[in-house]
Amino acid sequence: MTRDGVFEAPGRINLIGEHTDYNDGFVLPIALPHVVRVTAARRDDGVLRLSSRQAHGVAEVRVADLVPGAVTGWAAYVAGVVWALREEGHPIGGFGLLVDGRVPLGAGLSSSAALESATALAVTELSGVGLDRRELARIAQRAENEFVGMPCGIMDQSASLLARERHALLLDTRSMETEHIPFDLAPAGLALLVVDTKAPHRLVDGEYAARRRDCHRAAELLGVPALRDLTGAEQDLPDRLARRVRHVVTENERVARVADLLRAGRVREIGPALTESHVSLREDYEVTVPELDVAVEALLAAGAAGARMTGGGFGGCVIALAAEADVEACAAAVRAAFAGRGFGEPECWTAVAAAGARRAGDVPAR
Ligand code: GLA
Repeated sequence: MTRDGVFEAPGRINLIGEHTDYNDGFVLPIALPHVVRVTAARRDDGVLRLSSRQAHGVAEVRVADLVPGAVTGWAAYVAGVVWALREEGHPIGGFGLLVDGRVPLGAGLSSSAALESATALAVTELSGVGLDRRELARIAQRAENEFVGMPCGIMDQSASLLARERHALLLDTRSMETEHIPFDLAPAGLALLVVDTKAPHRLVDGEYAARRRDCHRAAELLGVPALRDLTGAEQDLPDRLARRVRHVVTENERVARVADLLRAGRVREIGPALTESHVSLREDYEVTVPELDVAVEALLAAGAAGARMTGGGFGGCVIALAAEADVEACAAAVRAAFAGRGFGEPECWTAVAAAGARRAGDVPAR
């Protein structure tokens, strides 16, 4: 067993299946070429020493002293994974960990899940702890839920650890069953345009937790274990909860529709489902902001086949499926629309489906 190594885990973009993961539903993300890289070396003194190329200062804590709250900021995502592993009885000792994060921060591309996933892979591999990647995803999620205090679902960590190059990851978040569905747009003359709206995240965590509570309450009132167990129809619920339920039920249906189209090689036809998802997130789930809505509108007007916000909402990114030949015009349309509304300048790029977390190599000799 080697004592050190370099590990990489990617950020993600969700094609469809938003706010379904904490309802035991279905998601369909891809991993991005953008990674968080963790250089890890075991230490014999029981100390966790954390540093980052993107931040000043070093966090040091004895692994035996780890408790939620003991470490804050970016280092909590790393320390939380070590804490969660130890909570579950895995013998993880001291480590020196240097983080180099190349996933844009605060853009809703899951830089935090990438950091957790790279850490989980690094410290388990270098400690000889053999856990499969679904287990690592669950532990990373536990770190975020209980150590960082963000009540996220399991999509982001799963995408980062399980995704494959040129494939989308269809994940049943209840059974954790996966299917890798080919997602390669270039041969079809298509591209996935990503627009980072740079909209400041507003009340993100509070609103996310509030949506989770709505869903939990609705499931309770309807007498089902999770909203995943509903198959549509009118629900006898107060208006707000009824709309939350309608989003989750219809979103699960859209994931199935998109998965069917992708399996059939009909990627060109997934556009309408993407756009319907956005409308549902705007009207029923109420997690969009003007920047996201204006971007989607401009992209569709410029000829995109479909567009939607991706991630938790309240800022972050929009994705659009467009003919390669239309990508520039779509990006220009968003820039013009943003300028016209007095929004800050968005950033546009095209995404391809990249590989999940991996060992990148050994630490070069010093
Ligand atoms: C965030 C969470 C995920 C998921 C999405 C919404 O990214 O971390 O678990 O709930 O929001 O789909």
